[in-house]
Amino acid sequence: MSNIVIVGTQWGDEGKGKIVDLLAEYADVVVRFQGGNNAGHTMVVEGEQFISHLVPSGILQKKTCLIGNGVVVDPSVLVEELDRLKDKGIDTGPDLLKISEKAHVIMPYHKQIDLARERMKGDQKIGTTGRGIGPCYEDKASRRGIRFVELIDPEVFKETVNAVLEEKNFYLKNYLSAEPLDPEPMVRQYQDYAERLAPHVVNISIVMNQALKAGKQILFEGAQGTHLDIDHGTYPFVTSSNTVSGNACCGAGIGPKEITGVIGIVKAYTTRVGMGPFPTELFDEIGDRIQKKGAEFGATTGRKRRCGWLDIVLLRNAARLNGLTGLVITKLDVLDGLESLKICTRYECNGETLEDFPASLKTLETCKPVFETLPGWSEDISGIRKFEDLPKNARRYLDRIEDLAEIPIDIISVGPGRDETIIVCHPFT
Ligand code: GDP
Ligand code: IMO
Ligand code: MG
Repeated sequence: MSNIVIVGTQWGDEGKGKIVDLLAEYADVVVRFQGGNNAGHTMVVEGEQFISHLVPSGILQKKTCLIGNGVVVDPSVLVEELDRLKDKGIDTGPDLLKISEKAHVIMPYHKQIDLARERMKGDQKIGTTGRGIGPCYEDKASRRGIRFVELIDPEVFKETVNAVLEEKNFYLKNYLSAEPLDPEPMVRQYQDYAERLAPHVVNISIVMNQALKAGKQILFEGAQGTHLDIDHGTYPFVTSSNTVSGNACCGAGIGPKEITGVIGIVKAYTTRVGMGPFPTELFDEIGDRIQKKGAEFGATTGRKRRCGWLDIVLLRNAARLNGLTGLVITKLDVLDGLESLKICTRYECNGETLEDFPASLKTLETCKPVFETLPGWSEDISGIRKFEDLPKNARRYLDRIEDLAEIPIDIISVGPGRDETIIVCHPFT
């Protein structure tokens, strides 16, 4: 029996959705444990693309999909996503898609505050997705949040909204110079969502523990990436939840001894959306080429992703923080045709060598990546399905990543499609 956590090792968009969809074939349950609709996870099956923001990426494999207590849920987005999947003939009924009664609800004022704050910060903005993620987690921590269990109780919901909105409107109007919100239409609209979603609302911890007892296999779907983690990322240019594997237990309501493996998804190069440090960022035509060939646009906001070389300092940090047991290298095909490739193995900072990722942004700003250069390959590798068939220099690049990270590569992805994959060692077998 295997219960595996999938996490992003960089700054998100590593291709988690594709890999969760692929591995979900072998799982019985797929659970999201943190984040919200700031995530955009892409699956491509038989040429058709699906982007999911809240529904776990196991839905196309018809697996039980759970939204854990650690997730913040915008019900308008979830309802829309369920409708879109239903239109495509995909079952998302309450037997298959369940939401934790303890998951916090993203309210209109969370979005309003997120957007107004970013506007106010100007150049100093974080570059959030504007989906209200930070303000919702803030309310959770300050005990002013609304959970699904409150959302589906009309009386409690109305009372809570009225109480909370007084303070939110004061803040919106007087500090952020933003429009205050009217509670009545908000309550009415959310009651519609509540009626629609109520059949899906359950105690996820009980569902998870029953599945474990029955010997079912569980896949935990991380969102964002290790370096967007609220504790371990490039703070304050991070998201507002713990994205590392340790949070899979807390955000889904199970104990840590149930986890049997942690797979880190590594894009063959690095990307980042939004502001914040990025030591190996490219500002030249190679960066542009990777951005174009990799179609590096945010799946949630459509923003152009910043691109750079693979950073082993980042990867080693992710390996330690998550306790990685295996790696998946994605988008290797995007590097086809480059004469040479660079891998950052350490940083040089004020004459000192740094092998571990620093916490200080000031230090990070002065860090210069030290690169190792490897030869590229000219072949189109997207049709390759066996490791041995990869060009010699592609295998050399992968071997070097494995050596430097000291973690085995289990899977290599050479295209967005589910089948465009090379399995070296299957995590579920
Ligand atoms: P996630 O947030 O980690 O799930 O990743 P996203 O879906 O936001 O971004 C990854 C993008 O790369 C999506 O457009 C995927 O369809 C695409 N993708 C995933 N794996 C591969 C791959 O191996 N090669 C190529 N060319 N595209 C890939
Ligand atoms: P997936 O799951 C990439 C980034 C935002 C911003 C910062 C804070 O698709 O990998 P937030 O809205 O969370 O308060 O924004 O985090 N960010 C992501 N970047 N992929 C994501 O998710 C992201 N989710 C948030 O761009 O820099
Ligand atoms: Mg994404």
